[in-house]
Amino acid sequence: MTTVLAIETSCDETAVAIVNNRQVCSSIIASQIPVHQQYGGVVPEVASRQHLETINQAIAQALQQAKLDWEEIDGIAATCAPGLVGALLVGLTAAKTLAMVHNKPFLGVHHLEGHIYATYLSEPSLNPPFLSLLVSGGHTSLIYVKDCGVYETLGQTRDDAAGEAFDKVARLLKLGYPGGPAIDKLAQQGNPQAFVLPEGKVSLPSGGFHRYDASFSGLKTAVLRLVQQLEKDTTQVPVADVAASFQDTVARSLTKRAIACALDYGLDTIAVGGGVAANSGLRKNLQAAAIKHNLRVLFPPLKFCTDNAAMIGCAAVDHLSSGHTSSLTLGVESRLALSQVMKLYQTVD
Ligand code: KG4
Ligand code: ZN
Repeated sequence: MTTVLAIETSCDETAVAIVNNRQVCSSIIASQIPVHQQYGGVVPEVASRQHLETINQAIAQALQQAKLDWEEIDGIAATCAPGLVGALLVGLTAAKTLAMVHNKPFLGVHHLEGHIYATYLSEPSLNPPFLSLLVSGGHTSLIYVKDCGVYETLGQTRDDAAGEAFDKVARLLKLGYPGGPAIDKLAQQGNPQAFVLPEGKVSLPSGGFHRYDASFSGLKTAVLRLVQQLEKDTTQVPVADVAASFQDTVARSLTKRAIACALDYGLDTIAVGGGVAANSGLRKNLQAAAIKHNLRVLFPPLKFCTDNAAMIGCAAVDHLSSGHTSSLTLGVESRLALSQVMKLYQTVD
């Protein structure tokens, strides 16, 4: 049994969790959304300051909620990449300091590996190989999960991430920040077939289209043009119909690519992770398609779709159990490919 205290501060949530193997002992998420809402998006400098103000209290709360002392913690982890550099530094410095003071192993965790591991929190018996559909604010990828730390990216977006598309379309529909949940809610009242929008196909030089890659920037522009046209033609833009049509297009696009990828690679399970995994349209669409193709699709509980530290702790437990620890000289990186995860660790035999 391995118990890890994990910190996640890559963007706008100050999160601390304690995880024992694949079981969550405590999970604290101090959201900064109300602070950033007034700016219409995350302000990196403001995020770092907020993390600094909140982190110590969140650590104390995590220990208290888990009813554990430092002696019962086997390792201390923090997200070190990718993300906002100033924000990551707060969590990483806190984790390194705690590791030094309490003489515990330290682990730097890749944020996207955390999103993959979120599925294990509700499906502890899940084991690789499986396909991960990672859909967050910064990333949209189809990843072949081969083992702890061994990932192959099979497909991705060529431009905007799915969550970024939700946020940008919400902004142009004046729905506020964060856009994903706002569109999801409004889409329930709209007609998903009201407007036909491009699903983001990527052309191949040899002709035809890429089976796994998508492009969401064209879809966002198509929504902008549609709204401009509707503003000219009608007295009131049917915002719910636009939101529903957009959401349905993204859901169909992601579903089609994920199913094709799983079938081509002979993977029977698709585990979805990242903030957009919370989307009701994607959940419905993918689940229905998976049943048709005899595939298993797994979604983390809503609270573990968006950023949290439990998923970081879950990944850290697996690394620590495999003898992987990080150097205290490890720094933060705003970008780091998932294929580079093992560069964060030194292996102790
Ligand atoms: O994984 P996450 O919390 O942070 C990143 O690592 O980026 O994802 C945040 C993204 C945002 O773009 C947000 O709008 C989107 O996830 N999101 C959603 C929903 N909830 C969050 N998108 C669609 N539908 C949702 N229900
Ligand atoms: Zn994330």
